[in-house]
Amino acid sequence: PYAWYETMRNSGGIHYDEEREAWDVFSYELVHQVLSDYKHFSSRTSTEGPVSSLIGMDPPRHKLYRSLVNQAFTQKSIDMQADRIGAIAGELLDKVAGTGHMDIIQDFSYPLPVIVIAEMLGVRPEDRELFKDWSDRLVASVDPTSGQTVQQLTEVKQQAAEELYRYFTEVIEWRRKAPGDDLVSELLRAKIDNEHLDMPSLLSFCLLLLVAGNETTTNLIGNALLTFLENQDALERLYAEPDLLPSALEESLRYRSPIQSLSRRAVEDITLNGKLIQADQEVVVWMGSANRDEAKFAGASQFIPDRKPNPHLAFGQGIHFCLGAPLARLEARIAVKALLQRCRHLHLDAGAELTRTPGSFVFGYKELPVTFDPVR
Ligand code: HEM
Repeated sequence: PYAWYETMRNSGGIHYDEEREAWDVFSYELVHQVLSDYKHFSSRTSTEGPVSSLIGMDPPRHKLYRSLVNQAFTQKSIDMQADRIGAIAGELLDKVAGTGHMDIIQDFSYPLPVIVIAEMLGVRPEDRELFKDWSDRLVASVDPTSGQTVQQLTEVKQQAAEELYRYFTEVIEWRRKAPGDDLVSELLRAKIDNEHLDMPSLLSFCLLLLVAGNETTTNLIGNALLTFLENQDALERLYAEPDLLPSALEESLRYRSPIQSLSRRAVEDITLNGKLIQADQEVVVWMGSANRDEAKFAGASQFIPDRKPNPHLAFGQGIHFCLGAPLARLEARIAVKALLQRCRHLHLDAGAELTRTPGSFVFGYKELPVTFDPVR
């Protein structure tokens, strides 16, 4: 999409698409402005998925709800997961690292976040496969090659959501009686002005964690490793200086953002860069483009692993800034570090033809087959 983004940035940075009846915003400055201005650009859009929750709320509801879930999703509660994430990454690598060959997506970056969030939510180990299947069906995107219609897909999602609701209802009821240190128990404890989260809010939040956190983290890890593979100099540096990894991951978030765009709805008529946006019109901001804007990032089309500062917008901006960013960053650091420690001389398979996942909203790859020298 990057050539298209560049063309659009060079022709004013904001454009009305007659066919979709929506505005598209491409420049860093304007994307930042729209995301920061929740008063004019509402998150209550019509393109919401099967769950309506935090992500689709405006203040004042958003503020209350977000401070409640913030109590459960603290830096401390996330840091506590570090050992478990390392153990899960280790188990996944044990299965393939001896062979000198793996598919980074299917074998590693895809299962990892699902297992991590399932454990955080207190899903029973024997229910993990079930859980993975539900969350897959929930996030399935429209794949033009699958032969599925949008309506069929919506039904699949609806059914998965219902099964998950039933499952989490049980988990929540059980945790009410037997609290632990899992995320569900934390959510049950959270309160503001003596108000707790009610059952529908608890359920929709559990579902949101799956929808918002799994495919995105898979793609963060996959996109980062692909970018390192394409930049063998950077990869060599990472083998030698593991401390470079956090900034290299930030740079790959900028360079190949797992979420390319977000949607807002204009609350009232507003002029943006001389263009009149009318009340109720849809405004799509392209962070994938903003993050490649030369006006903000010198050498924007280059991958610079130690780029500083790096104010990319991959996790959004403003009041809806990704709640899971600390978890995503922690998972990616631990996972990629473990992979590099076990796999030397990492290379893409000769002749591998990479296929992107469908849709323009997410950016990721279906598979990433690599060869390497196993480290024992
Ligand atoms: C919000 C990106 C991982 C949970 C967002 C938003 C973005 C984003 C762009 C803003 C949405 C908006 O403004 O409309 C990402 C990326 C991830 C990632 C790129 C991985 C690399 C996660 C994880 C979780 C999570 C692991 C949780 C387990 C959420 C939630 C929100 C959110 C709950 C809504 C926050 C709110 O509305 O206040 N994320 N996310 N995300 N994300 Fe993430």
